[in-house]
Amino acid sequence: MKIAILKERRPDEPRVAATPDTVKKFRALGIEVAVETGAGEGAALSDQAFAEQGAVIAPDAAAAAAGADLVLKVRQPLVEELEALPQGVLLACIMDPHRSGDELASLARHGVTGFALDFMPRISRAQSMDVLSSQANLAGYKAVIDAAAAYGRAFPMMMTPAGRINPAQVLVMGAGVAGLQAIATAKRLGAVVHATDVRPAAKEQVLSLGGKFLAVEDEEFREAETAGGYAKEMSAEYQKKQAALLAEAITKMDVVITTALIPGRPAPLLVSEPMLRSMKAGSVIVDLAVENGGNVALSRPGEVVEIGGVNIIGYRNVPGRLAADASMLYANNLFNFVSLLFNKETKTLEIDWEDEIVKGTLVTRDGAVVHAALTSTGKGE
Ligand code: NAI
Repeated sequence: MKIAILKERRPDEPRVAATPDTVKKFRALGIEVAVETGAGEGAALSDQAFAEQGAVIAPDAAAAAAGADLVLKVRQPLVEELEALPQGVLLACIMDPHRSGDELASLARHGVTGFALDFMPRISRAQSMDVLSSQANLAGYKAVIDAAAAYGRAFPMMMTPAGRINPAQVLVMGAGVAGLQAIATAKRLGAVVHATDVRPAAKEQVLSLGGKFLAVEDEEFREAETAGGYAKEMSAEYQKKQAALLAEAITKMDVVITTALIPGRPAPLLVSEPMLRSMKAGSVIVDLAVENGGNVALSRPGEVVEIGGVNIIGYRNVPGRLAADASMLYANNLFNFVSLLFNKETKTLEIDWEDEIVKGTLVTRDGAVVHAALTSTGKGE
């Protein structure tokens, strides 16, 4: 059994799908590991560090993948990367399958059996493989750090002989994995934190972190969670009531962090242009949903936009801004996932195609896109 770790080729992707530690663990299972040279560079991991744990360093992607049973990557290969992948190989990575139509179809046509780790079911057995959680947690933290760096004032209250600094008022929109970490981080920095979400379960979590919960708690809100634990797309009427509540609150905020997503749908617009224009000059917004359509009007992927003295930060790939930790957690997620597919006795891949985790993440097989959420017969999330 051989695993290949390939260098990421997307310009905004510094993460890597293995660490020397996971290479060591794969080797202990009797698995050969080839790492493409330079794969760890963006995460401060040298070829030598991988080699010391038993990886073979390959000069290019094709050499690393030659004879491999399984390829591990961070992001879905670009069409031009497919050439390097052997026919019939297994691939596990983050695929963003709802938005990667052509790339996914090419992957299927290339005969790759693809597992989208971002489709990991939210069940307790899969928690150690949950890449959305491991990466969103870091994104939530980094969003607050980025906001604090751009904010021209301090976060904590300070009583000094020269005068009193009031604590920053922070609003976190979307209290899922990223939002909860943003709340915890902003609290630790001394801010007064407010948070909103459409899932009733979020309320208790926000309060337990010391945040103030802000939401329209009507009948629709009480039923706004899917069986999978995700938010539903809210009705136009609810969104109007929510917008009115937030429009009032946002005028008093110094920092807004938005994280709201709905699987398979564009991100909901939570901060309209009039709302952001009503904010105080010097305020900062970080739109973590910017790559999914954005929660904030006028936010732009990869840019910082200034509107009336308000800075709207739309950095791409925020987990990648903490590439070393993000790679470490992601590589551990992958190791746990591969362990599920591997028979330690026979030292070969042995996949239970009926396993909930396998079924939930399998997106391409036998030349076709196979996941129910992506095919025309599928019901989606
Ligand atoms: P997500 O990334 O899909 O969305 C982020 C947040 O935005 C969610 O809390 C969502 O409710 C909220 N949101 C959506 N529309 C909104 C709107 N119009 N206004 C305000 N907020 C809005 O969600 P994430 O972070 O992936 O987590 C979803 C749920 O799954 C959470 O309850 C989380 O605790 C749970 N979870 C369970 C796991 C497990 O049991 N293994 C693992 C990870 C998460």
